[in-house]
Amino acid sequence: MFEKRHVLTMREFSREEIDSVLDMAASLEPYARGGKCDALSGKILALLFFEPSTRTRLSFETAMMRLGGKTLSLGPAEGSAIAKGESLADTVRVIGSYADALVIRHPREGSARLASQFSPVPVLNAGDGAGHHPTQTLLDLYTIRKESHLEDLRIALVGDLKYGRTVHSLAYALALYGAEITLVSPPSLEMPGPIKADLAGKGTKVRETHNLDEVKAEMDVLYLTRIQRERFPDPREYQKVAQSYRVTSESLKGAKEDMIIMHPLPRVDEISPEVDETVHAFYFEQSFYGVPVRMALLKMLIGDGLD
Ligand code: NCD
Repeated sequence: MFEKRHVLTMREFSREEIDSVLDMAASLEPYARGGKCDALSGKILALLFFEPSTRTRLSFETAMMRLGGKTLSLGPAEGSAIAKGESLADTVRVIGSYADALVIRHPREGSARLASQFSPVPVLNAGDGAGHHPTQTLLDLYTIRKESHLEDLRIALVGDLKYGRTVHSLAYALALYGAEITLVSPPSLEMPGPIKADLAGKGTKVRETHNLDEVKAEMDVLYLTRIQRERFPDPREYQKVAQSYRVTSESLKGAKEDMIIMHPLPRVDEISPEVDETVHAFYFEQSFYGVPVRMALLKMLIGDGLD
């Protein structure tokens, strides 16, 4: 089902396929915590990051190492032939001949799809501008399944829904599980129209508001996001919305006892630090789950399929 395919957006995934990744991730979680496994021994994963990354890059590296594989990394563009004007297509063609799969993060929307047209090996999109971030979504779903529930889910996606690629991918996947989605953003950062139209076309229950306080009491999951400063054409526009939503322990009064708070991280000031000590905080678990989920994906994409 997965061998040699690209992972570009969540639109190409069925619910059955997602469930199989999450099941595999659950079976690999003990190895993500340090057990011994060499399912990918002899395999090489290439990391091409043209934008900053901490969790995504390092959890892919960790996932590969925990499976007994190795990684190679392009490093900053200034140190590679990209600085001499080499195209993404040529870079991908060449690095694809050194590795068994490529992970790419790039500021331009559509760049992972472009890379997939030239790569001889599977391409995993680790974020293409304000487009998509499908591997983040898989770990988000894993977190929800483990720490809350995917059935009958009521979830609020909060913050920068315009430029935030994690919520674009997540919204598509949640639609497959019949979740009730509440979109909470400043007016200028609403979810893009085409995504809302796709969700409506799938019969997804979607509601929009600018006021988090109005809806938080009903939620099973609050999914907070950072305002994507680097994507604003005008810094003054960023300043206007920078402090839009901030969750504090005070503001959590009235929330369900078992409501979980998620955030793809990095946070800027969306969650005040005292919230970390509450029963609602799951964002650090969430970032750990990137390891078993990326292990599962890599094993399914480039493993030899013997076990
Ligand atoms: C996100 C991203 O890069 O889109 N980070 C991540 O991968 N965990 C979210 C963000 O940068 O705000």
